[in-house]
Amino acid sequence: MNHFSFFFIFFYVYFCYLPNKTLAMTLTLQNQTDHQALLQFKHSITNYPNGVLDSWNSSTHFCKWHGITCNPMHQRVTKLNLQGNNLYGSISPFIGNLSRLRNINLQNNSFTKKIPHELGQLLKLNQLSLGNNMFLGDIPKSLSNCSNLKVLHLLKNNLTGNIPIEFASLQKLLKINIGKNHLTGGVPSFMSNLSSLTSLVLFFNNLEGNIPQEICLLRNLRNISVDVNKLSGTFPPCFYNMSSLESISFAENRFNGYLPWNMFYTLPYLKDFRMGHNLFSGKIPTSIANASTLKTFDIGQNSLRGQVPSLGKLRDLDLLNLEINILGSNSTKDLDFLKTLTNCTKLRILSITANSFGGFLPNSIGNFSHHLYELYLGGNEISGEVPKGLGNLANLIILSLGHNHFEGTIPTSFGQFKKMQLLDLRQNNFSGEIPSFIGNLSQLFDLRMEENMFEGNIPLSIGKCQMLQFLSLSHNNLRGPIPLEVFRIPSLAKLDVSENRLSGEIPRTIYGCLSLKYLGLQGNSLNGTIPSKLSDLKSLQYLDLSRNQLSGSIPNDLENMDLLEYLNVSFNKLEGEVPIKGVFQNASRIAVTGNNKLCGGILELHLSPCPANLIKPTKHQNLKLAAVIISVIVFLILMLALTIYLMRKRNRKSSFDTPRIEQLDKVSYQELYQGTDGFSDRNLIGSGSFGSVYKGNLASQDKVVAIKVLNLKKKGAHKSFIAECNALKNIRHRNLVKVLTCCSSTDYKGEEFKALVFDYMKNGSLEDWLHPRSANSEHQRMLSLVQRLNIMIDIAYALHYLHRECEQLVLHCDIKPSNILLDDDMVARVSDFGITKLVSVVDDTSYKETSTVRLKGTIGYAPPEYGMSSEVSSYGDMYSFGILVLEMIIGRRPTDEMFEDGENLHTFVKNSFHGSIMQILDTNLVVPRDTEARVEKCLVSVLRIGIACSMESPKERMNIVDVTKELDIIKMVFLDGERRED
Ligand SMILES: *[C@@H]1O[C@H](CO)[C@@H](O)[C@H](O)[C@H]1NC(C)=O
Ligand SMILES: *[C@@H]1O[C@H](CO)[C@@H](O)[C@H](O)[C@H]1NC(C)=O
Ligand SMILES: *[C@@H]1O[C@H](CO)[C@@H](O)[C@H](O)[C@H]1NC(C)=O
Repeated sequence: MNHFSFFFIFFYVYFCYLPNKTLAMTLTLQNQTDHQALLQFKHSITNYPNGVLDSWNSSTHFCKWHGITCNPMHQRVTKLNLQGNNLYGSISPFIGNLSRLRNINLQNNSFTKKIPHELGQLLKLNQLSLGNNMFLGDIPKSLSNCSNLKVLHLLKNNLTGNIPIEFASLQKLLKINIGKNHLTGGVPSFMSNLSSLTSLVLFFNNLEGNIPQEICLLRNLRNISVDVNKLSGTFPPCFYNMSSLESISFAENRFNGYLPWNMFYTLPYLKDFRMGHNLFSGKIPTSIANASTLKTFDIGQNSLRGQVPSLGKLRDLDLLNLEINILGSNSTKDLDFLKTLTNCTKLRILSITANSFGGFLPNSIGNFSHHLYELYLGGNEISGEVPKGLGNLANLIILSLGHNHFEGTIPTSFGQFKKMQLLDLRQNNFSGEIPSFIGNLSQLFDLRMEENMFEGNIPLSIGKCQMLQFLSLSHNNLRGPIPLEVFRIPSLAKLDVSENRLSGEIPRTIYGCLSLKYLGLQGNSLNGTIPSKLSDLKSLQYLDLSRNQLSGSIPNDLENMDLLEYLNVSFNKLEGEVPIKGVFQNASRIAVTGNNKLCGGILELHLSPCPANLIKPTKHQNLKLAAVIISVIVFLILMLALTIYLMRKRNRKSSFDTPRIEQLDKVSYQELYQGTDGFSDRNLIGSGSFGSVYKGNLASQDKVVAIKVLNLKKKGAHKSFIAECNALKNIRHRNLVKVLTCCSSTDYKGEEFKALVFDYMKNGSLEDWLHPRSANSEHQRMLSLVQRLNIMIDIAYALHYLHRECEQLVLHCDIKPSNILLDDDMVARVSDFGITKLVSVVDDTSYKETSTVRLKGTIGYAPPEYGMSSEVSSYGDMYSFGILVLEMIIGRRPTDEMFEDGENLHTFVKNSFHGSIMQILDTNLVVPRDTEARVEKCLVSVLRIGIACSMESPKERMNIVDVTKELDIIKMVFLDGERRED
């Protein structure tokens, strides 16, 4: 080796090989660090449902782990995205070792403990999203080292303490969202250093003090939201010169002062202005007349006075809330501004409730935006008749005219309010009869007409309002009997017809009304006895029958009304013994005075003891009771023995013969032909690739049925017919459509004929309810939130049964709204078992067998993996269920045109999770404003289930056991809240 070559080798080794080697070594070391850090991160997650982190093991490279993105060159972790995975636990401090991390997204999990201050080591960090978890303690000051931070999102945690002053150095911050925590202190003046800031969201905290003047230095600020804090004082005048502002939200604080008259000139881009629930005084700025960009103007609950300027130029106005101020002066000009609102063609919500507006309601109100769906005019001094034109606003869902001086009759045009859910006319001077067209308002759930001068009878047609929950007709001049129809409204929770001149008896038979909690009949002329059937109203909590002409005794059955908290029967003509159990145990919960012939009862009532012949022979009764109990027990034992015997016998049998379709009741072609008038089009209620469905009369069973006639030209139809008959024969559940019988025969032309006969479902399919065919159709129907919840729960129970309770696993494979039918009581039943899709009866190990199924569900509802021809599985049904849940709340089909560029219903909902849930709701799902918070909570929980079920990866989806459990809890919590609000 000569010198030259030695040199060459030295050079080669030194400059080429060694440095490369060190580089490689450091790389290896660093990716080892990432690997270790991630393992530590996983280690501090105590619970991850659905195997989300199963891929996090050493047999796979960490860059391929779920939720990890690496830089392809260096194999270093740049992105950690595990949002919405139900992760429980804490964030390991080792996260600080992932030194190349740019983006952390752990939103919508259940992380708790402190946010580790080691995050401050991540100098490349761009975006930190930890929203909607349960993090405790302070926001770590160390985050101020992350000088590249652009987005800080900590919404909805349990963070306490101040906004750290160290954050003044985060010059690149664009968006801060730390709303919905328990932060204290003030809005810091150092904020003015964050010169790039475009969005500052601090709502729902405990911040106090003023808005610092320095805030005006934020030249790029577009959105500021500090609603629901304890902030106070006046705004710095320069605030109104921040011309970049588009959205100002300061509601529910203690701000005071005036709004400058010219503010809408100096804030030219303002779209949203929310100042409700503060202490502002003075007038509405006159410059609002030119605020043509304004969409939201909410100054409700302040102390503003004077007249409302013309608003005709606000073409985009969506919400106008002036309620609870001192606007107007009880003069005829007060409502002139309403005339200018006819130009605001996008207006959806208008409230002027509780002001001093006087004068008449202008007839031009009928020319308001057709989008208007909530109109609140109550609590003013408005007089005169209600203009007929109001009935043109056919999309109204809430109309409140209560607490005014309206007079005259209810205009017949009100019969056009097909969508009306809440109609409030109380405390006016309305007269005349309650019109019978009120029955056309089939969506009503709250009708308040109390304290007027209505006369005549209560119209029978009110019984057609089958959604009614609150009916209040008290303090009028109504006469005649209470129509039985009223007691057949299944959803009715409160009925108050007190203080009228109603006569007749309380209906003897009460069929419906199982939800009734409040029944006020006092102050009428009702006669007859108190029917013992009243005790069938099992939900009743409040019953007032006082000041009537009721006679006879108090039925003992009332003792059995477990929920009854208050009973008033005073001032009637009752006699006999007062019971002593149930509600009668407690003198403060009953009133019986003013009935001269009542006796007995508990001592505190101070009634005279009953004469001996009235007291019931309790000893004999006990003997009788014992006899009954013994015979019941003997009977039960006999039944049990019989059942065991039969079950044994059946088990033995089922293990030998496979059921054949011959075992079902059969029905002839002829009978089906006759029952459907020869399968006439008049009776056709649906059709698809599988064939057609007819409504028919089955003479032999005296029953209306649905008949599915199969299209036998379709390949595999024979096989699936037998499969379905057999499957349905063996599965029975309250939430599955019941197959009555199958028909396999030849038709009059001698061709083969196969049909399935089902119970007919009067209320059609969920599809009809969610997406009524034409906007003006007669059957404009809407589902309330509770109904939607019930339907989801029904479907979930059906799936639970199919997936977990049947002898064999049954996969439905085509869950979608048109396959969910609703029976007379709006109970949902899953239908369409494998007519085209086959019932896949498989045991756990042989999913493969079913992969021969060519058709796998419906586009939009079928899970992505079916498209890749993987086998059908219960995960697939869960996916369809998840999509259905989202659709039921959002009101959009998964195939809606609005989803483009790879977005779908799942991602759409997921991305809307921050703050805008209420904006993406089905427009038919009406939420009265006073229940919004409770409803939102419920919706968020439901949507979460929808999202968790429709995850792209099958293994990540929620299973049916958890779904049923959670839905039950959500419903319970929701109804509980409702009860408390009442
Ligand atoms: C680290 O990087 C090296 C070189 O890029 C690679 O060979 C090795 O497999 C990586 N190790 C880990 C644990 O990622
Ligand atoms: C978070 O704060 C709420 C309200 O203060 C409290 O009810 C809840 O228990 C807290 N959660 C945790 C995990 O501390
Ligand atoms: C408002 O004006 C009407 C009609 O002039 C009058 O009857 C009513 O008492 C006034 N209300 C108040 C609060 O002054």
